[in-house]
Amino acid sequence: MSEISAEQREREAALVERVVASFAGTPDPRTRELVEALTRHLHAFLRETRLTENEWKRAIDFLTAVGHITDDRRQEFILLSDVLGASMQTITINNEAYANATEATVFGPFFVEGSPHVGLGGDVAGGAPGEPLWVEGTVTDTDGTPVVGARIEVWEADADGLYDVQYGDDRVTGRGHLHTDDQGRYHFWAVTPTPYPIPDDGPVGELLRATARSPMRASHLHLMVEAEGCRTLVTHVFPSGDAHLDSDSVFGVRDSLIVDVDQQIPTTPTPDGRVVTGPWARIDVDLVLAPAP
Ligand code: BEZ
Ligand code: FE
Repeated sequence: MSEISAEQREREAALVERVVASFAGTPDPRTRELVEALTRHLHAFLRETRLTENEWKRAIDFLTAVGHITDDRRQEFILLSDVLGASMQTITINNEAYANATEATVFGPFFVEGSPHVGLGGDVAGGAPGEPLWVEGTVTDTDGTPVVGARIEVWEADADGLYDVQYGDDRVTGRGHLHTDDQGRYHFWAVTPTPYPIPDDGPVGELLRATARSPMRASHLHLMVEAEGCRTLVTHVFPSGDAHLDSDSVFGVRDSLIVDVDQQIPTTPTPDGRVVTGPWARIDVDLVLAPAP
């Protein structure tokens, strides 16, 4: 690329300052800070890449397509934020590392309010196909004190990689909630998570293909834990050995959230006497909550 003359640089820099100055009267200081920073970073991107007018038009067409496919059931802007790592970065900033508190990760689009109460020892699978998975552990604060009565929400895709809401009927499977007992312990049945692709039939999928990226999410179980006086934890458990742990399409994997799955042969008795005909598995997941901010 040819050298940019001093005169050209000055013109470009002057434009940035004019746009920033246009926001000087913004009454809310935080809004002003955000729009000024956005202006500076956007112009820095345009100037650094020497963006062509055709490329800017393509970018606008892309965002227009993201808007057009978005409706009550599909939020392509969130998906875009996810694959750009913006969702995960916002979560990282807002769930600051605190002692040994369990790390947070992406919420994702498949949580549904009003999940069934399955209770301790219940089965969140609710008939979803998959290998039975026994999940047990504790919820404590960062001093190791058990958190009694913590509400644990669980949701997951089935063995076909689909959440109940993706079936287009009224089934409620792969989700439920329970509470920790008087020693902060919990246990429930689920199905062993398997990897699945994020929705990739829209503009975000096009972006992934154009950049030779995979739409696959590493297999995971979603957990949300809420308790009085504690920071709400939204996290996942990732079974170790999954082929997508290093290339999760939404950058949700944290090493500390990877757990070993203990595979069981069909004749091994289950912890609660449930009769399981095929193989089953178990995992231990101890969750540590930071204090509420
Ligand atoms: C999920 O974990 O369910 C998910 C997260 C981000 C985008 C799509 C799906
Ligand atoms: Fe998920």
